[in-house]
Amino acid sequence: MSTRPIPRPGIMAIHPYVPGKSSAPGVAKIYKLSSNETPLGPSPRATEAFRSVASHLHDYPDGAATDLRRAIGRAFGLDPERIVCGAGSDDLLNLLARAYLADDEEAIHTTHGFLVYPIATLGTGAKPVVAAETNYTADVDAILGAVTERTRIVFLANPNNPTGTYLPFDEIRRLHRGLPRRVLLVLDAAYAEYVRRNDYESGIELVSGTENVVMCRTFSKIHGLAALRLGWMYGPAHVVDAINRIRGPFNVNAAAIAAGIAAISDTGHVERSAAHNEKWLGWLSAEISKLGLKVTPSAANFVLIHFRQADGRTAADADRMLTARGLILRQVGAYGLPHALRMSVGTEEANRLVVAALAEFMAGPAHG
Ligand SMILES: Cc1ncc(COP(=O)(O)O)c(C=O)c1O
Repeated sequence: MSTRPIPRPGIMAIHPYVPGKSSAPGVAKIYKLSSNETPLGPSPRATEAFRSVASHLHDYPDGAATDLRRAIGRAFGLDPERIVCGAGSDDLLNLLARAYLADDEEAIHTTHGFLVYPIATLGTGAKPVVAAETNYTADVDAILGAVTERTRIVFLANPNNPTGTYLPFDEIRRLHRGLPRRVLLVLDAAYAEYVRRNDYESGIELVSGTENVVMCRTFSKIHGLAALRLGWMYGPAHVVDAINRIRGPFNVNAAAIAAGIAAISDTGHVERSAAHNEKWLGWLSAEISKLGLKVTPSAANFVLIHFRQADGRTAADADRMLTARGLILRQVGAYGLPHALRMSVGTEEANRLVVAALAEFMAGPAHG
């Protein structure tokens, strides 16, 4: 008999999620490039809508987020009845795990997949199963090879964080075709708006025509509303029904609802943000590569930079040097990438400062 309460199996195996750093001791001006936030900020209309909620803080929000689901439905041509909103897509990923995983069942994610997947899986008592990647990219055959009788969910970020790589729609369809119908395929398209590839599809088409696919989206990235915690999922009616039974009755707050409606209708702001990203993602990838550092080709709003493993030019050395200049990138050791740093595409100023700093770092004496 235990002398104190003990959490359910799996909980104590969780490595708590460590968010990107947001400060650099002793540095006056910092450039936070560690959490894939947008350098352009939210739509001014979203900020205005957020302010308008201040006079109604005593009222509960609409627990069904009806107007927001309608606005999302209009923006994407989707049935609002098949949309669920959440306090960030993290909320929805956890709800999906809770609804579809039980003790000793399995959820698959890929080697460098988003860390919330194993955390959400372990929290239910189920087992995370890792499918190998090829060239830092999800490998459909490896995922299908990892399926067992106990598999209930496949979590796939497309594009993936922290690698930035993506699978073309043909590959997603091949993955879906190979999965048993009882397995829920969760397509996490947090970075979909940034992708500029003809062979990419965020998942809407697949969800619409199938019974075992869900797509998750977020307002934290291109919409610039990370602080408000707002995400949404689109799924088959039966999955939506299950999630609506277990979600918090008011899981999305009134400020997030108001700002989300304004943000999704400001298509000009989204386009400007995507155009900024396209320009600087290409520039950063090219300039950093020219310095002799490997950059994984990215379809998202960040780049994964691979450093040498010795001679004073390691990822840890680079991180120290950049942090001292107020340039905060993301260490990705927790993702199994101890020799890399992830950099979010920032403002022109931030991007140029990082490249100049890395140029000095690579050319100068070893930093060790
Ligand atoms: C792949 C992926 N999915 C989901 C999220 C979580 O987003 P949210 O802020 O909506 O919880 C992130 C955030 O970094 C992400 O990278």
